[in-house]
Amino acid sequence: MARVALTRILPFPAIDRLREVHDVTVWEGPEPPPEDALRELVRDAEGLLCLLTDRIDGPLLEAAPRLRAISNLAVGTDNVDLEAATARGIPVGSTPDVLTDATADLAFALLLASARRLLPASRAVRAGEWVTWEPARWLGDEVTGATLGIVGPGRIGRAVARRAEGFGMRVIDSKAMELDELLEQADFVSLHVPLTDDTRHLIDAGALARMKPTAHLVNTGRGPLVDQDALAAALHAGTIGGAALDVTDPEPLPADHPLLEAPNLIVVPHVGSATHATRERMAAMAVDNLIAGLDGAPLPHRANG
Ligand code: DGY
Repeated sequence: MARVALTRILPFPAIDRLREVHDVTVWEGPEPPPEDALRELVRDAEGLLCLLTDRIDGPLLEAAPRLRAISNLAVGTDNVDLEAATARGIPVGSTPDVLTDATADLAFALLLASARRLLPASRAVRAGEWVTWEPARWLGDEVTGATLGIVGPGRIGRAVARRAEGFGMRVIDSKAMELDELLEQADFVSLHVPLTDDTRHLIDAGALARMKPTAHLVNTGRGPLVDQDALAAALHAGTIGGAALDVTDPEPLPADHPLLEAPNLIVVPHVGSATHATRERMAAMAVDNLIAGLDGAPLPHRANG
């Protein structure tokens, strides 16, 4: 039995399977462990099952000399210093594929909600403003026939494209054309690139300025892909039509954050993979990765090395 650190209570059957073969210590807090608590948690650990909210960097790895395997409960691994883990010979697991459809569904839900201005319309009903059928009120943007620009046509981006085809959209992607051209042509732009030094603030003031004044930006990737100050400015100035974000920088976004003052903005709390079935599959895959790593076997889904 190896000592395993788990950074949050995970109420999924896979965790029982992990407990049957390893000695699991769980951070019981409802929020991520603060830096010193995380350090303490991993001090004697041989395996680590962590979340995208945990920063697993070089100094943390140094504080965990016995660590032999890391499993991240996410497909994105930007919270883990993969190079530092590789340098220490530690395999890092991730959870691709199992969340593709759930995340693509959410991206499409955000696209539709932003296009059809569902949030203000729903708020108006609750405020008693629905007095009659209004020929020229609560008008949104047509989705059928519109052009969707997929930035990052990987697994999730392609799944969003498939949904778009069902809605009669024209789909373009950043593999087939320059980003600037895509931004100029698209009525909807959906972001699906991983967060790296190269993609941080990929959508900055210049990129936003290329978008059509009616275009909507959807981000289900990572918050720092977008320069939020520039996005807020574009929404206030009306130089883009709307934005719908599942991810922000920081997360959580404080309720008094200036971005939330912007018009035509939807923000949801990083729920792309949040379906019962998907989260169970992610936990199962994360446990499979960790058990394999601790056995010295190849990880079913390894992100480094
Ligand atoms: C991931 O896995 O990277 C998503 O952002 C959370 O499901």
